[in-house]
Amino acid sequence: MLMGLPGAGKGTQAEKIVDQYNIPHISTGDIFRAAMKNNTPMGLEAKSYINKGELVPDEVTNGIVKERLAKDDVDNGYMLDGFPRNMAQAEALDQFGAELGKPLNCVINIHVDPESLMERLTGRYICRNCGATYHKIFNPTKVEGTCDRCGQHEFYQREDDKPETVKNRLEVNIKMNTPLLDFYKKQGILHEVDGNQDIDKVFADIKAVLDQIN
Ligand code: AP5
Ligand code: MG
Ligand code: ZN
Repeated sequence: MLMGLPGAGKGTQAEKIVDQYNIPHISTGDIFRAAMKNNTPMGLEAKSYINKGELVPDEVTNGIVKERLAKDDVDNGYMLDGFPRNMAQAEALDQFGAELGKPLNCVINIHVDPESLMERLTGRYICRNCGATYHKIFNPTKVEGTCDRCGQHEFYQREDDKPETVKNRLEVNIKMNTPLLDFYKKQGILHEVDGNQDIDKVFADIKAVLDQIN
């Protein structure tokens, strides 16, 4: 599981982990955004929370992840990004992960100094075609206006990356973070990675953790 405050680099590192280890990437944020785009009932419900920077209710979120982990493409492993985010979700995952025979065995916390997160989020842009994530200053496309990954030319900014929303997202997530870290530390599966380094260096540190547990 990739843990980290908004903007810590979970999605950025997940893309690299998928390329290297070919393991399904389960991001609750991505699942909600896809549902919002398709205007499904779940998407409409999620939107009212996400656009305020609040958490979507646990019943909804837990149900989605439980259903996703029941699929057989994750029989040989999975990577969670952005779930669990509070103690109720962590306890639910412990339970349904065990029931499904797919328990969580590794948590990587990407730690970034909170002061830098606002700039990371407000400068983020995303490829509309393939979802690859970039940053105006820290991680621009190699050729301006062209996605490195798929070659398309259309990009967007996330609705919840407006400064007012980011402020609340950070506050909400910071509050939940410490108990969750303690919980996984006690279980002995928590690994800390310094997310203040450049993207490739962060990935090298994550790779060292994953190669050691596999
Ligand atoms: P979600 O989509 O998960 O958003 P988040 O947790 O706020 O995290 P982000 O996706 O914004 O950041 P990231 O860590 O992936 O960073 P990224 O790699 O993009 O969730 C969205 C919303 O959905 C939540 O607010 C909530 O409402 C709801 N939700 C989701 N899960 C939920 C749950 N479990 N329970 C309830 N509600 C839930 O990087 C950010 C930027 O920084 C990019 O521009 C990137 O290029 C740049 N960058 C990355 N790494 C570096 C680096 N090392 N140096 C410099 N720049 C970097
Ligand atoms: Mg993300
Ligand atoms: Zn693309």
